[in-house]
Amino acid sequence: MALHIIDHPLVQHKLSIMRNKETSTMKFRQLLHEISLFMGYEVTRDFPITYEDIETPLQKMRAPKISGKKVVIAPILRAGLGMVDGLTTLIPSARVGHIGMYRDEETCQPVFYYYKMPANKNRLVIVTDPMLATGGSACDAISRLKEDGYKTIRLMCLVASPQGVKAVQEKHPDVDIYLASMDEGLNDKNYILPGLGDAGDRIFGTR
Ligand code: PRP
Ligand code: URA
Repeated sequence: MALHIIDHPLVQHKLSIMRNKETSTMKFRQLLHEISLFMGYEVTRDFPITYEDIETPLQKMRAPKISGKKVVIAPILRAGLGMVDGLTTLIPSARVGHIGMYRDEETCQPVFYYYKMPANKNRLVIVTDPMLATGGSACDAISRLKEDGYKTIRLMCLVASPQGVKAVQEKHPDVDIYLASMDEGLNDKNYILPGLGDAGDRIFGTR
């Protein structure tokens, strides 16, 4: 499926400020929220439309409304939480699930600790996580969603490595990926280069 890179100048400008190590937690969080709004606009771009008869104060018309699947936003904890408010601002009726996992510091393998999703498996799931590094966390989160019965899944990340994108495309070729940037690669600790550091720590100020 498709790889979408959101190269809008406003997104790229805001991302550059986020990458700067001098940027404060407050500013980082605010910029992630703003970028999530822009990215959400693209993630929802192909949502199907239906037409409804309404009356404006002046005349009747066939008015376009969104139809089709309802949405669940599924942040991978912790950092994915930073992208939720932007999406719920755009899609106020969206449900929000939570996928708790962290990357083991030694092995870099994802470790699950929490999973809570809505009962209706027919919804479109938008998985959020700012960082797609080795791709292990995203691949496992998507596998868990599929085991649970979800069939239509999109992945929205801020920054990715080529290796992470390849891993998701190979394991989950049916999942569309949305990024603000495809970065250069990974360092020897599997951090994205040039990246923006540890996204969870930068959002929550835990470093
Ligand atoms: C980060 C990030 C992703 C994962 C990416 O989370 O938010 O979930 O690492 O790495 P991967 O693609 O190699 O799996 P982290 O484990 O640091 O947890 P946190 O969000 O709680 O800080
Ligand atoms: N997790 C992060 O937060 N940043 C990276 O660069 C890689 C994994």
